[in-house]
Amino acid sequence: MIKICFPQGKQFEDYYELRWRVLRKPWNQPRGSEKDELEDKSIHIMACDGDKIVGVARLHFNSKEEAQIRYMAVDENYRRRGIGSTMLQRSEEIAKERGASHIVLNARENAVGFYEKNGYKIVEKSYVLFGEIQHYKMMKKLR
Ligand SMILES: CC(C)(COP(=O)(O)OP(=O)(O)OC[C@H]1O[C@@H](n2cnc3c(N)ncnc32)[C@H](O)[C@@H]1OP(=O)(O)O)[C@@H](O)C(=O)NCCC(=O)NCCS
Repeated sequence: MIKICFPQGKQFEDYYELRWRVLRKPWNQPRGSEKDELEDKSIHIMACDGDKIVGVARLHFNSKEEAQIRYMAVDENYRRRGIGSTMLQRSEEIAKERGASHIVLNARENAVGFYEKNGYKIVEKSYVLFGEIQHYKMMKKLR
């Protein structure tokens, strides 16, 4: 059974490992490149199959009203089972509980359909990562 939980202590190693393996390694990016300066101020969410971390996501606030999701990744062998959507919904609940009126994110082109299924709308074309991955800024109102 898949459970949503929050990484603690040593679990952070596997948490960042999955983030790196899915979002950085395929583009030959070094370990460490999967983190930014907001890790300590963010809420870290994961999906676990027993002891195995099979999905990760991160939530932070840009302002009192605006929350942002980054680093959403599901293990290749666990995709299309609703895990990404469940992590997204949990992140939205937390953002709402903490007073956010909306959530923004920058979706990779390949994931735009996933976010649209979850109620996000494209705001604008944003940046290109590693010279090839087009991103789209997307938004969802929470109230
Ligand atoms: C994008 C990602 C997080 C989705 O996670 P997931 O657990 O497979 O998603 P879900 O099973 O909750 O999908 C929900 C719906 O979104 C749609 N969907 C999922 N992945 C999709 C994709 N890549 N493109 C278009 N639609 C997608 C499906 O239609 C699915 O509905 P269905 O099961 O009725 O078909 C996962 O594919 C992933 O980690 N991809 C690689 C990393 C990545 O691109 N992360 C996003 C960075 S912005």
